[in-house]
Amino acid sequence: MADAGAAAWVRKDLVGIEGLSRREIELILDTAPQFVEVSERESGIKKVPLLQGRLVVNWFFEPSTRTRTSFELAAKRLSADTLTMTVAASSAVKGESLHDTLANIEAMHSDLVVIRHGHAGAARMLAERHDSHIINAGDGYHEHPTQALLDAYTMRDWARQRRGDPAASLDGLRVAIVGDILHSRVARSNVWCLGKLGADVTVCGPRTLLPPAIERMGCRVTSSLPEALNGADIVYVLRMQFERQRGSLLPSVREYVNLYRVDEESLRHAPSHAAVMHPGPVNRDLEVAANVADGPRNLILEQVSNGVAVRMAIMHLLVNSPGPRAGESPAT
Ligand code: CP
Repeated sequence: MADAGAAAWVRKDLVGIEGLSRREIELILDTAPQFVEVSERESGIKKVPLLQGRLVVNWFFEPSTRTRTSFELAAKRLSADTLTMTVAASSAVKGESLHDTLANIEAMHSDLVVIRHGHAGAARMLAERHDSHIINAGDGYHEHPTQALLDAYTMRDWARQRRGDPAASLDGLRVAIVGDILHSRVARSNVWCLGKLGADVTVCGPRTLLPPAIERMGCRVTSSLPEALNGADIVYVLRMQFERQRGSLLPSVREYVNLYRVDEESLRHAPSHAAVMHPGPVNRDLEVAANVADGPRNLILEQVSNGVAVRMAIMHLLVNSPGPRAGESPAT
């Protein structure tokens, strides 16, 4: 397997989408298909030696199913050694700082650290001071860059199949992002990512769940679900994040379901070809009807499958590029 784009990659870390160029995002998306092929091998070994002898550390301060397992599997498929840090069983509970913890991990020669943390900026702060490659697996309400990249990959693949054009881009694709935008790092990363790729993005939710001035990110904003779904190629449903909501932001869950649930009835406002996506975990029959989440329009498990390949591509580009070490380039 060739080094596939690594020569063109210049960043040490991946801490957000906001600072990436379209060319960089497309380099990641264009590097992923060879790793889809590795994961889909029916015979032979689902592994390549691109990270052989490297140490990848998974460091999650918040719960995760998809992202954590996907990174671990991606690292194993690249033949890396993997280490999972369980926060509850680490010295973080004794007050050890992030910097001190990472310095100790680096003393054991880590190469790449995947971190999810409740505070916005945690990944960037570590990236700026440490030599390991840092990947942000979600920081507070701020960004979840690898989710946006796997989503963009899934949308592009869907558009290419639908149009019968293996080179189709996301230019002009109409995407409606629906739900709890205010608490969603997935929404923020997706608005940046899809906007840079030329898609036409509308965010939709109750006014209390829309961040002030979100239209400055380059998206349209509405509180009308029928308006958002009208003409949408992709309906991207967000999880209702009750654990992050403080105070009563909704009159009632029943009212939210009546006005914003994506189900067979509300989807009548969308074109018949529209696909439904969700980053997971899904609150069945709350933000999306179970029969839609499981139905023929859904791309939810394709998102998960593509996540492994996209994360393999990111880890390969970060570790195998001749790019700078810490302190030599701004982290993004
Ligand atoms: N989409 C996502 O981040 O899911 P997890 O929280 O399970 O990782």
